[in-house]
Amino acid sequence: MSSPADVRRGADYPVSVAPMMDTTDRFFRVFLRLLSKRTLLYTEMIPVTTLIHGDRARALGWDREFEQPCALQLGGDDPAQVAECARIGVDYGYDEINLNVGCPSSRVKEGSFGASLMARPEVVARCVEAMRAAVEVPVTVKHRIGIDDIDSYEDMERFVRIVAEAGADRFTVHARKAWLSGLSPKENRTIPPLRYEDVYRLKREHPQLYVEINGGISGAEAVASHLEHVDAVMIGRGVINDPYQLAGFDQRFYPGRPAPPPPSRSEAARALLPWLARWRELGAGWQVLLRGPLNLFAGVPGARRWRQALSVDVRQDGVAAVERAIAAMEERESRLTG
Ligand SMILES: Cc1cc2nc3c(=O)[nH]c(=O)nc-3n(C[C@H](O)[C@H](O)[C@H](O)COP(=O)(O)O)c2cc1C
Repeated sequence: MSSPADVRRGADYPVSVAPMMDTTDRFFRVFLRLLSKRTLLYTEMIPVTTLIHGDRARALGWDREFEQPCALQLGGDDPAQVAECARIGVDYGYDEINLNVGCPSSRVKEGSFGASLMARPEVVARCVEAMRAAVEVPVTVKHRIGIDDIDSYEDMERFVRIVAEAGADRFTVHARKAWLSGLSPKENRTIPPLRYEDVYRLKREHPQLYVEINGGISGAEAVASHLEHVDAVMIGRGVINDPYQLAGFDQRFYPGRPAPPPPSRSEAARALLPWLARWRELGAGWQVLLRGPLNLFAGVPGARRWRQALSVDVRQDGVAAVERAIAAMEERESRLTG
């Protein structure tokens, strides 16, 4: 008899940008899409209660044609609720549905969702099964190596085996454990050591599973080296700190799916201007709108001036300050290339 795990859904995405609360909103994603057409993007984690009882349009509204492919990440642990929200996500056009089994936030201590689910693989399996029955798009899971004292390779492997049986189409493993008490979410992203070898081993021992590695990875060279061991690489903070690394990913990691050549940094910034004007009309604040391009020039001369324009000058002069900053960076670029 064939199990759901035998039929993997979905395209191959060797690189993705991690779901990040208060970061990977629609504004950030549009900006990233200017740099890479193929990289898989994620929403922030959206709790099922927000979609069932809250402002659904606000949580899920996006510029689908431009932003896709994008996965909707859900936070929840009730099979009926996550299935309902998966359906809602598909109605909004999201390309994949992902379940968060990695976030060690305070609500997790109540056992409601996130990393605490590492201790309840059967619940995760029921959620995946329900979502898979509800939608045709890939259903994926993002999880940790372990939590608290459930942190051996064997513990993780057991979790993955049970959830794979339910038909999860991709396992994205944040390669460090989380301490549910004692460490803040931020500390849980830095203090527990990274254990890449456990993720490599998972792929080695289960070659039929689609395994993505995450945690402390940044830059094309690092991505390429992890891809020798696993199917895909997810980058989080590295993209916040240096988003321009995405330029060139399409050509390097998606060679079979031609994409336009990447823009220069200032071309990308200029391409964002019409979006900024439109979003301002919708009432969005500068800090939120400019979170993406803030570090666009990371590591190149003029980066500090650029950041200052986007974080300070813009409050006074609005879009005009951004336009001035782009012109200044264009001049630098043309001096360098010309
Ligand atoms: C600001 C911030 C917000 C995050 N929010 C989420 C989230 O909503 N869902 C999730 O699964 N992980 C979340 N994470 C964890 C990241 O997805 C990722 O697993 C983690 O940062 C490790 O990857 P990195 O070292 O490449 O950043 C968040 C991380 C950061 C820095």
